[in-house]
Amino acid sequence: MARILITGGAGFIGSNFVRYWRKAHPRDSVTVLDLLTYAGSRKAAEDLRGPNVRFIRGDVADPRAVATAMRGCRTVFHFAAETHVDRSIHDSGRFVRTNVLGTQRLLESARLSGIERFVMISTDEVYGSVAKGSAGEDARLAPNSPYAASKAAADLLCRSYVRTHGTPVVITRCCNNYGPRQFPEKVIPLFITNLLQGLPVPVYGDGRNVREWIHVDDHARAVDLASRKGRPGEIYNIGTGRRLSNLELAGMLLKAAGAGRESLRFVKDRPGHDLRYALDSSKIRGLGWRPRIGLREGLMETVAWYGKNRAWWRGIKSGPKYRSYVARQYR
Ligand code: NAD
Ligand code: DAU
Repeated sequence: MARILITGGAGFIGSNFVRYWRKAHPRDSVTVLDLLTYAGSRKAAEDLRGPNVRFIRGDVADPRAVATAMRGCRTVFHFAAETHVDRSIHDSGRFVRTNVLGTQRLLESARLSGIERFVMISTDEVYGSVAKGSAGEDARLAPNSPYAASKAAADLLCRSYVRTHGTPVVITRCCNNYGPRQFPEKVIPLFITNLLQGLPVPVYGDGRNVREWIHVDDHARAVDLASRKGRPGEIYNIGTGRRLSNLELAGMLLKAAGAGRESLRFVKDRPGHDLRYALDSSKIRGLGWRPRIGLREGLMETVAWYGKNRAWWRGIKSGPKYRSYVARQYR
């Protein structure tokens, strides 16, 4: 039995990871540290409460909150971050504070408290746009959005703590996730919920940008494996090889929701929009991981989840903060 710390455990991937961990490792105790920003769900945090789960509302950039949360923990899974590329274009300061300073504070506390494993949840966006082929773990870092740059900085800080202090950090860089409980600013939940509301879906530019997609549960299994079998100082890409353009993705979602192509709206492109992400994931596959959930099946299940949980996303979409975000986004 061990105590683990999960930062960002009230967000999309973090909350699915807490669920996964409790099933896979029921004897472990879990501490969640989450600030409950707009992206963190109070409901998710409440749902996660239980005999073996402790929830701390706090900021990863606050050393005292971090030290309290880390006390007695053996492993840290660092998911907490500002995560939306479009928001980083309007307000990059918050991204630097949480993603860079927050990671530094956690690394420092991990160093002082002798943490046995620190898993840094980085992202494939650190490689920037991959013109052809796929990026291996040693590919050049070339982030293009303030979000991606802040994650690359955090990723490099982890490297420095391994080299300088011997902190046992494993870094994972995953492709685009989808699944239940994703905040409806990201393309898949935004498109699904718009279609359920009878609204059009905004496709940036010409819709030819390519992303690689993974179900959040497949990501959780890969992170678990990397934490146990991965070597300190190593980086593991986590991808499925399932790449498609935003237009192809929109087509699948329209079909799943029973909508026609008249629901597509081509809107102004995102500045600095990366054209293509593609990962070489042979290293994590070498540890024995394979994705289990096919995209078609996973999308159908995800559309069904948003269909069944309208109260969850309607509450978010009708809130003043979300409405003002959308008003600024499509101005
Ligand atoms: P999310 O935006 O849904 O959730 C982020 C969580 O972090 C929220 O609960 C929020 O309240 C919390 N948080 C934000 N700032 C905080 C702070 N200062 N202190 C404490 N908590 C704070 O994000 P997500 O999509 O679940 O992503 C989780 C992690 O996975 C991030 O590190 C992200 O970079 C990485 N990642 C995401 C994807 C993806 O497709 N979503 C892919 C690869 C990697
Ligand atoms: O690749 C991993 C990354 O995936 C994570 O690190 C990020 O945290 C996560 O937000 C995600 O970044 P993307 O920018 O790829 O995701 P997003 O859902 O914002 O957009 C996916 C694609 O869809 C991208 O090419 C932009 C496009 N898009 C997005 C939105 C929100 C649209 O065409 N219309 C939209 O309204």
